[in-house]
Amino acid sequence: MIPLEVKPTGNTEQFNLQQYLHQKKEKIEKALDASLPIGEPAKIYEAMRYSLLAGGKRLRPILCLATAELLGQTEEVAMPTAIALEMIHTMSLIHDDLPAMDNDDYRRGRLTNHKVYGEDIAILAGDGLLAYSFEYVAKNTTGVPPERVVKVLAILGEAVGAKGLVGGQVLDLEYEGKPDITAEMLTSIHRRKTGALLEACVSCGAVLAGAQPEDLQRLSGYAQNIGLAFQIVDDILDVTATSEELGKTAGKDVSAQKATYPRLWGVEVSRQKARELVDAAIQQLSFYGEKAIPLCAIAEYIVSRKN
Ligand code: FPP
Ligand code: MG
Repeated sequence: MIPLEVKPTGNTEQFNLQQYLHQKKEKIEKALDASLPIGEPAKIYEAMRYSLLAGGKRLRPILCLATAELLGQTEEVAMPTAIALEMIHTMSLIHDDLPAMDNDDYRRGRLTNHKVYGEDIAILAGDGLLAYSFEYVAKNTTGVPPERVVKVLAILGEAVGAKGLVGGQVLDLEYEGKPDITAEMLTSIHRRKTGALLEACVSCGAVLAGAQPEDLQRLSGYAQNIGLAFQIVDDILDVTATSEELGKTAGKDVSAQKATYPRLWGVEVSRQKARELVDAAIQQLSFYGEKAIPLCAIAEYIVSRKN
């Protein structure tokens, strides 16, 4: 169960995280569906929609919306960026599952994109989603000065490229079969592979709200901490959860000889470290008081999640 009570500033007011996540997810699902109607050639649109609309926690767009709202921006203004972040995340999963990468058959409880559409179309579906994410932000963001939109596009580009996801994935592949790397190297891989996009979700939401440099610093600290906690929990779930619970093949890290936190530290210490990171993330937001309750609750959810 997701914790329902979060007290970032000693406040005892109850916050219903399940309801919050459910409401946000519903709006995001609708916006995702509307963002990508079938065009010509239909095959590529179908492949893109197959993965984009496959469900999932929608944590990245929720983080973007929650951060924008924390700083007084509306959900409507942040929605195109939130949608673009999910497009980027989806494309990274399509490519990550390809035979040349992790060669996975299941994702989000269904066959992977290449298993349904073939490798050629899966590669192109990923490319199509990536290109469209930038187009979507540029064409659909209204109600903010254009400088903010340019900043968002720059943040997205940096998070996706060699400094972020792409570089992280290269290191991840390089260290496959060499599971005895240091915790520092493992952390540096994950900061790029998972952390960079999660941080971008928070930074983009903040930029759209006209954040001050001090806001960006606090929120980046929060995002870096939850990013790492997220990955530690991912590693733990890979060894403790079933494929049905995860919607993807469990035990994959061990069979692919991946370096993971449980392998380095054991499951219990890994859990403890994730907890410490979430506490540190929540601490970063103490300045905002009660307004930060949703972001604090999302941090809690990251350590308590079961998939
Ligand atoms: C899942 O990790 C994969 C990622 C978080 C990102 C992978 C990044 C790429 C494939 C680069 C994408 C290319 C561009 C242009 C952005 P995992 O394999 O550890 O987790 P899993 O068990 O969910 O597969
Ligand atoms: Mg993978």
